[in-house]
Amino acid sequence: MTIPSVDRTIQLISTGAASGSTCSPDLVTAPWEFDAAAPGYGPGSSMGDVIPTGSPRQGELPETYRRATPEELAARIRSAKATLGDRVVILGHFYQRDEVLQHADFVGDSFQLAQATKSRPEAEAIVFCGVHFMAETADLLSGPEQAVILPNLAAGCSMADMADLDSVTECWEQLEDLYGTQADASGRVPVIPVTYMNSSAALKAFCGEHGGIVCTSSNAQTVLGWAFERGQRVLFFPDQHLGRNTAKAMGVPLEQMPMWNPRKPLGGSTATELDDARVILWHGFCSVHRRFTVDQITQARQTHPGVNVIVHPECPMAVVDAADSAGSTDFIGKAIAAAPAGSTFAIGTEINLVQRLAAQHPEHTIFCLDPVICPCSTMYRIHAGYLAWVLEGLVGVDGRAPEVLNRIQVPASDAVHAEVALERMLAARPPAAAPVLVGQA
Ligand code: 13P
Ligand code: SF4
Repeated sequence: MTIPSVDRTIQLISTGAASGSTCSPDLVTAPWEFDAAAPGYGPGSSMGDVIPTGSPRQGELPETYRRATPEELAARIRSAKATLGDRVVILGHFYQRDEVLQHADFVGDSFQLAQATKSRPEAEAIVFCGVHFMAETADLLSGPEQAVILPNLAAGCSMADMADLDSVTECWEQLEDLYGTQADASGRVPVIPVTYMNSSAALKAFCGEHGGIVCTSSNAQTVLGWAFERGQRVLFFPDQHLGRNTAKAMGVPLEQMPMWNPRKPLGGSTATELDDARVILWHGFCSVHRRFTVDQITQARQTHPGVNVIVHPECPMAVVDAADSAGSTDFIGKAIAAAPAGSTFAIGTEINLVQRLAAQHPEHTIFCLDPVICPCSTMYRIHAGYLAWVLEGLVGVDGRAPEVLNRIQVPASDAVHAEVALERMLAARPPAAAPVLVGQA
């Protein structure tokens, strides 16, 4: 059985040719229609989130790409890639559309893609089919001469936008007033900042400068262990759920994980609560993963007795607790690949990955916990049209001089400290975290 891409499924649902429902009728509209619209994340899971003013915007995609059929775009991408050869490497996150991911040289989770960035130092350009913070990370980890390209500048991340440098600095100052800055008898400082990979380069720099570190969903436990060796407490941002789920699995009691709401004095906690804290959780979340509920798991267990429920650790704690296991996007793929044929899986993560896993594993029954199709708004902003545009820009077609379009460059002032925090993260390797080469997965 061939399972069509999410894009195709959405088109079929919209015409009534397939049953099912989507979270927004606008999902059928091409992403470039939203480039010129008022700032926003676009249709999908983050469409209700408020986008910060000044978020990167994407200019108009030239008409030739907007008008091209999917087949034409695929042919143009293949041709540009063939012309560029080793001069370009394309990285793709698991949540990307199949129409884009089919052209990637490396496919992986955030950790694997950060590693993959370093694997082709000879490539002049790294085209990152993912979201803004991933492209920033690639710029930080790649060589100074390498250009990192994000095909659509509007592909941000609503969770990453929930923590900004000003509010984290304000929080830090309040914590310093409360805890002081002196290490305890065992040399542990009062608090270590830990940022999830899903954050701006400025916040990674903050962590590097203040003795902290970056984590991804695949090495969060190792990273928290690293931080607890050096600090009495951790300030974890922006994802409260990854922080809570990870610390809970390590035995930290919930009452020692107060939340920090940047809009409230002392983050909304009392000084005593903060004094007792082991992990202070920033008030951020992923709008894709908060769609998953315990009710959906109950429903899946009723309709599919024996079902194996796997969710991403960005899901709320009650969902992770009700699931059979939780892990990064790569973990989910590996768990499915290792299962005996005939297994049934209900998956709590982004629909593009779930639908692809279902297509790759016809020996299993695999479905998304959420029956409503609702992709990550920002991952979905990358369409094959933008990929063709940036690749042909590098080649220089139709009389255009070759040019680097949509380059992502972290300012030097942030880069120094952000690299320190990222190198600490890369040293905290999750098990078997080698980049997955397409065709060898
Ligand atoms: P992974 O690191 O598990 O790929 O997660 C990235 C992400 O953005 C999940 O929402
Ligand atoms: Fe951000 Fe969530 Fe999308 Fe990941 S899935 S890029 S955390 S909004």
